[in-house]
Amino acid sequence: MTQDELKQAVARAAIEYVPQGIIGVGTGSTANFFIDELAKVKGRFDGAVASSEATAQRLKSHGISVYELNDVGELEIYVDGADEITKHMHMIKGGGGALTREKIVAACAKQFICLADASKLVDLLGNFPLPVEVIPMARSYVARELAKLGGQPRLREGFITDNGNVILDVVGLTIMNPVELETALNQIVGVVTNGLFALRPADVLLLGTADGVKTMK
Ligand code: 5RP
Repeated sequence: MTQDELKQAVARAAIEYVPQGIIGVGTGSTANFFIDELAKVKGRFDGAVASSEATAQRLKSHGISVYELNDVGELEIYVDGADEITKHMHMIKGGGGALTREKIVAACAKQFICLADASKLVDLLGNFPLPVEVIPMARSYVARELAKLGGQPRLREGFITDNGNVILDVVGLTIMNPVELETALNQIVGVVTNGLFALRPADVLLLGTADGVKTMK
């Protein structure tokens, strides 16, 4: 099976978790497969909160109602992909640059359902460059602080987030303790969000493998 077929398989499997009401939807190619599956069952739920402009556009293109997060209460589920995930459900996210809104929508959900193909499951986070969203005027300062933590930050060229900020992709970090590092990165002035999702990990992982979709909790 190709990586896309694995992503499609987990997207299909996630439909079983869709409740009535409003759901949170992530960003990226796996989330896009999920949106396409959602379109097939759109009579079964009320609508969605999107984690990016791109996701909002795709949902609307399928005729799915998109709600502002401030207009809805707690969400039953948030469904999204990841760049890396461990068996402890800690993730690196933000490869698509939507990490801030993803973290906000995830925070509002009772259950985070992560969809990933088998290549995303790792023993140790950090092979994938860690995205850090930064207020533009703080870019150099934050880069120096990230270097002090042992990382090598690289500006994501030509990319501005939905929130008008820039992204530093950090390589070279040894992420032995994702909760500690996420907390430390949150303390750097000028950092809006970092792509570690460990303080609020996933609750369910639907992992696409050659042997079928595996559910991990
Ligand atoms: C976007 C994300 C995505 O979930 C992550 O990059 C995985 O993307 P894909 O499903 O395309 O592999 O965090 O900001």
